[in-house]
Amino acid sequence: MTHDLRPGDIFNDEDSNTSNNPAFEQVLDTRLSRRSLLRGGAGVAGAAALGATALGGCATGAPAAVRGLGFQAVAKHVQDVVSVPEGYTAQVLYGLGDPLSASTPAFKNDGTDTDWGNRAGDHHDGIEWFSLDAQGQPSTTFNSRGLLAMNHEATTDEKLTSFFIHADGGKASLPRPAAEVDKELMIHGLSVVEVQSDGKRWAYKPQSAFNRRVTTMTEAVVHGPARGSEHLVTKYSPDGTRARGTLNNCGTGKTPWGTFVSGEENWFGYFFRDAEDDGRRKKDKQVQALNRYGRKAGAASRHGWESAGSDDRFVRWNNGALAASAQADYRNEMNTFGYVVELDPYDKRQTLRKRTALGRMGHENVTFAPAVVGQPVVAYMGDDARGEYIYKFVSSARWDAADAQPAHRLAAGDKYLDQGTLYAARFKDDGSGEWLELSLDNPVIAGSSYFEFKTAADVAIFTRLAADAVGATKMDRPEWGGVNPRNGEVYFTLTNNSQRTEATVDAANPRVYTDLKAGKAQKGNVHGHIVRFIEPNPAATNFRWDIYLFASEASADRATVNLSNLSDENDLSSPDGLVFSKATGICWIQTDDGAYTDQTNCMLLAALPGRVGDGGTQTLAYGDKRVTTHLGQAQSPATLKRFLVGPRGAEITGITETPDGRALFINIQHPGENTKMADVGTPAKYESQWPANAGYGPGQRPRSATIVITKNDGGQIGT
Ligand code: FEO
Ligand code: CA
Ligand code: CA
Ligand code: CA
Repeated sequence: MTHDLRPGDIFNDEDSNTSNNPAFEQVLDTRLSRRSLLRGGAGVAGAAALGATALGGCATGAPAAVRGLGFQAVAKHVQDVVSVPEGYTAQVLYGLGDPLSASTPAFKNDGTDTDWGNRAGDHHDGIEWFSLDAQGQPSTTFNSRGLLAMNHEATTDEKLTSFFIHADGGKASLPRPAAEVDKELMIHGLSVVEVQSDGKRWAYKPQSAFNRRVTTMTEAVVHGPARGSEHLVTKYSPDGTRARGTLNNCGTGKTPWGTFVSGEENWFGYFFRDAEDDGRRKKDKQVQALNRYGRKAGAASRHGWESAGSDDRFVRWNNGALAASAQADYRNEMNTFGYVVELDPYDKRQTLRKRTALGRMGHENVTFAPAVVGQPVVAYMGDDARGEYIYKFVSSARWDAADAQPAHRLAAGDKYLDQGTLYAARFKDDGSGEWLELSLDNPVIAGSSYFEFKTAADVAIFTRLAADAVGATKMDRPEWGGVNPRNGEVYFTLTNNSQRTEATVDAANPRVYTDLKAGKAQKGNVHGHIVRFIEPNPAATNFRWDIYLFASEASADRATVNLSNLSDENDLSSPDGLVFSKATGICWIQTDDGAYTDQTNCMLLAALPGRVGDGGTQTLAYGDKRVTTHLGQAQSPATLKRFLVGPRGAEITGITETPDGRALFINIQHPGENTKMADVGTPAKYESQWPANAGYGPGQRPRSATIVITKNDGGQIGT
């Protein structure tokens, strides 16, 4: 990496996909032709047929056309404020440490706070809205009262310690003190919080009975093909059916049956195994998997939690094969993370479920295609690390409209998320694409010499290796996916890739260039892009793709870098969050950037996208090599416009709305992240003092927080 690293980046910097998977193309092509025959030529549908079918399938329930982006673009800045367009108000609603129970003391924000299991966690990330009616019953339409369910991904840290939550910054060496680790274990996970508007202002309810925290210590039940696998056996769960907690939850999703799903992303960095562990495991196939998932023997863990004492809650973070059997140690503990977890936000008595059928990876969000009666439920997912893949899950069960408001929401989750087929995407240079089946029904997986897949559990647990084996396309860090409610097209942000080289460019990841940040050169796909695809129907195994947007600085060369014609009103770097509004159809794009931050803080943009194929082709030259990519139409401020710029050091992430589209909730994650631990006692040296400087106290330590944005005239946001 040549641009500034922030803590979160380090854990996306794992170059663990060393699979030589282009070498599998030969195998793949043979298999595809056989499958195309078996499936009646599904791989050869023409572009016209694709467009017509998808449009027809998605006409119902689509939002009315937005007349235009009805606001003035917000200017780029590096000030320590949240700025929104004139005519809008942004209000801080719920920040790190805020109490979630009547008995929890008010937050002091000086590093002495206690009872972290009953406070808002850190690093607010993906967020979803769940309406409550006036009687406090679940609703799909109510707009002034509801629950926000969200992720608390990680913490602002330096040298092991989450320094802003410890009075003196904490101990930045091993062994870590148990009292500090106990706080850090609690600030990760999920929260559910009730919020309400009185028509003028929104407030969260500290005493609501719905409020809930899920942490790294909360019991979870394993569902799907990995349940009971020998690779999930731990001292905590000798039969491999239970797991403890959820960790590094990044993107989110809302299921068609009204529950919350959350992706476990950079969980591997929290584990430690000593340098002898590969040798100790001898021929265990997990050694290959441990390395593929970024956990090399001898590498330090992110926080050193395993060093804090002999209690099980610390020891579990050492995933070495240390005892005589898997029942007696935590060699498999890391295998209990990396899943999509499902939670019923309306019922805190229900146990968290790990949905292993959706595969194990660095999960970002989960975006569902609109559910269609009689058709499978389909979900799209990204694996956010350099050179990882885009995935799709197709349920075995067919959608029943009665499940839109089921008597038991998690039972509906069992029905749709525990059995189905997982696929990884292959983007071909000609603009077509294939979904490659990851199951033992696929002879490439069943007969793989790359990794031994014996059971469906092996595919669910070692998903990245299965996708390597079939030759999926290595993408520039797949982050959030979103489905356009107007036409069913699926968008994926590819945030950036410092390791993309001229030798490895392909049509779907076609740019390598040099950008200057404060005069220093940074190379690769520095700013990222957004790919999109259209399928004949969501369960299909073929698609057609183009690149909707090439992120870029406005001043960059329009022939090689700024291919989408971005200007000062809409230029951006490192797209991450991407959510389509169901109310307005606006595509909201958020950034998690370290490349353009010499000139602007991270931001939120509003887009009115066209459709796959609305642009043309562009050929890029790298020496003698030529890459022809497929790009969407050029942008203008009428189609893409900056709506918000956040405070210093913060990522803008997570976005949800009330059903009427008149309140928009987003998360400001890790303001002040580049503060030095040594300066924790010196507020003047903090990179950011937000949200205290926006009137949300106490203290000056920066806090991740949820904000709510409303239009002063009460209108829909962005229109
Ligand atoms: Fe947590 Fe991939 O961002
Ligand atoms: Ca630059
Ligand atoms: Ca993200
Ligand atoms: Ca990110």
